[in-house]
Amino acid sequence: MWPYPRIIAHRGAGRLAPENTLAAMRLAAGLGLSMVEYDVALSRDEMPIVLHDRDLRRTSNGHGNADELSFTDLARYDFGGWHSPPYAGEPLATLYSIAAFTLANRMHSNIEIKPQPGREALTGRVVAQMAARLWKDAEAPPLLSSFSEDALRAARDTAPQLPRALLLEGPLAGDWSDRMSRLGCAALHLEQEHINPRVIQAVHRKGYKIAAWTVNDAERARDLLQWDCDAVFTDAIDTLPGALQPT
Ligand code: G3P
Ligand code: MG
Repeated sequence: MWPYPRIIAHRGAGRLAPENTLAAMRLAAGLGLSMVEYDVALSRDEMPIVLHDRDLRRTSNGHGNADELSFTDLARYDFGGWHSPPYAGEPLATLYSIAAFTLANRMHSNIEIKPQPGREALTGRVVAQMAARLWKDAEAPPLLSSFSEDALRAARDTAPQLPRALLLEGPLAGDWSDRMSRLGCAALHLEQEHINPRVIQAVHRKGYKIAAWTVNDAERARDLLQWDCDAVFTDAIDTLPGALQPT
C-alpha cells in the first residue's frame, strides 16, 4: 500500500522559510502538510546533513563546499539569516533532527539523496543505513529518491525495504522503465512540465507511481491530480492545499 499523500512540501516550506531547515518543516507542519521533501548530502566526515547546494553561500553565512568541511565546521554557520531576520540563527539540519521532527509530528518524509560528485554510492549507503535505523519502528517508511542511479543502487543494497523513487529531469524517454526496474524503484519523480495524461498512463501501466516537481500553480496542480498523477511537490504550501480543496 502506498502511504503517501498527494501534496508534498518541497524543501520543507518552499520559499516561505529557509529551505531544508527545521524551521521550514515546522512551518509545513503548522500549515497542515503531512509530507515533506528534503535534500540530504554528507559532510566531509560523512554526517548526513540537510542541504541542497554543494556551495554553502546561497543558504548560509558560510562559504566553501559542504563535502570539504566537517560537521563541526558546518554547524557553526547560520542557515536562516540569509532568508529573513526572524530566521537568523537557524541551525544546519541533519537527517537525525528532521527524522525526529517528522516522526513526532506524524509527517511522511521524502529524503532526496543529493550526493556531491564522486560520493554517490557512499551517500546512498550512509543515508539508507541511517534512515533504516531512524524509521525502524515507524508506521510508514521514508521514501528515498535521487537523480543518481549509483546512490539509489547503494540504497537498495543497504536497505532494500525502504521504497525508492528515480528522479528525472527532462522528458520521459529511453529506457526509463528498465532503469526503474533494475533499481527496484516504486515511483518516478518527473519534472512537472513534461507530465501529461499520456505520460501518467505510461508510468501507471508499468506499475509505478508518478509525482511531479515542482508545481506552484494551483490550476496546474489540479490538472495533474485530476489526470491521476499520484503527487505534486510544491513550494506554495500556504496557498496550494486550500486551492485544491473541493468547493
Ligand atoms: O525531489 C524533487 C526536487 O526537489 C528535485 O529538485 O533541485 O529541488 O532538489 P531539487
Ligand atoms: Mg530536492
